[in-house]
Amino acid sequence: MVRVKEAVSKLAEYKPARSIVEVSREYGIKEKDLIKLAGNENRFGCSENVIKAINDSKTYFSYYPDVNVTKLREKLSEKLNVPGKNLIFGNGSFELLTLIGETYIEKDDEVIYNDPSFGWYLNVTLKNEGTVVRVPVTEEKAVDTEGILKRINEKTKVIWLCNPNNPTGTVIAPVVLTDFIERVPEHVLIVLDEAYIDFIDGDYIDTIELAQRHSNVIILRTFSKSYGLASFRVGYGIASEDIIRNLLKVKLPINLSFTAQVAALAALEDEEFTEFVISQNRKELGRYYSEFEALGLKYIPSNGNFILVRTGLDGEYVETEFAKEGIIIRKGEEFGLDKWLRISVGRPEENSRVIELLKKILEEIRKNDRKNA
Ligand SMILES: Cc1ncc(COP(=O)(O)O)c(C=O)c1O
Repeated sequence: MVRVKEAVSKLAEYKPARSIVEVSREYGIKEKDLIKLAGNENRFGCSENVIKAINDSKTYFSYYPDVNVTKLREKLSEKLNVPGKNLIFGNGSFELLTLIGETYIEKDDEVIYNDPSFGWYLNVTLKNEGTVVRVPVTEEKAVDTEGILKRINEKTKVIWLCNPNNPTGTVIAPVVLTDFIERVPEHVLIVLDEAYIDFIDGDYIDTIELAQRHSNVIILRTFSKSYGLASFRVGYGIASEDIIRNLLKVKLPINLSFTAQVAALAALEDEEFTEFVISQNRKELGRYYSEFEALGLKYIPSNGNFILVRTGLDGEYVETEFAKEGIIIRKGEEFGLDKWLRISVGRPEENSRVIELLKKILEEIRKNDRKNA
């Protein structure tokens, strides 16, 4: 048997949300009848502009894509007011996170992980032989920025900072974030993962301006959430030229497919669609809050397109009951949040089904409890 690299041998396989195909086969439900609310995808689809643009660009399908991502780079550079040389594109932010790990993390580097957060940070750290330093979230499930600052030392290389945080949905307050970035020493790379930035409910700061002032900050954003392009795989990073140059040395030469570039460009030209998604998300979150309150369930107000709620029930049980009814959600146990659920916000009628099903499950459990009392 060929001996695998030591770091890889210690690695657990990354566990993504269950796919529609997987659940369809396991429960014998047709794929089209399943509602997936487990991966924080966009249930409103994507802009019609995207579909038209893909259709109109068929003649180029047999060519390699533009390696410089020129048109998307220009458009984004204009929208964000950032020079094109400060942008890097990836096959989703997944790829950019991987690149950051390969470029910056090496044996014995300490890497700070706000726990719980996006799971891929752990794999990237361990694969590159970094040492994970976990800083638990506070009682209110918020990122403990002071706790993170206390764990920084000369060995610290990277801080994965997910803001808003997945899976808790909390966001670091603007003044706290600014102060935090000022206080992190320059030898530490702050990876500010803003996958859910568009869903923030309230004020936020111009983090791009912060990244321009601090050469140890890289911002990551994605087209997978508010733009609804998860299947195309487009993420981007904003950072100093030095960081971008280093990442480019490691990046696959052609990492962004032609259709992905076309789709993202077309999506940027239809901000109305994104605004619609954001407003629907906010409205539906509001509905979840009042329903959870009526049911006496604890939840965390969300700045993402998902909601974390404490049912007090075994997550595996609830997840299975939902899957049987054709709804895929995610149990909190996967993030170390026992008896919590993370539910991606769906379309209004889908959220109604979630609420109804949750009520039914809770009623049955409560009825049985009364019987056994
Ligand atoms: C915090 C966070 N970062 C990155 C990603 C990956 O996004 P992408 O689709 O751009 O790879 C996700 C996906 O759910 C996420 O939640």
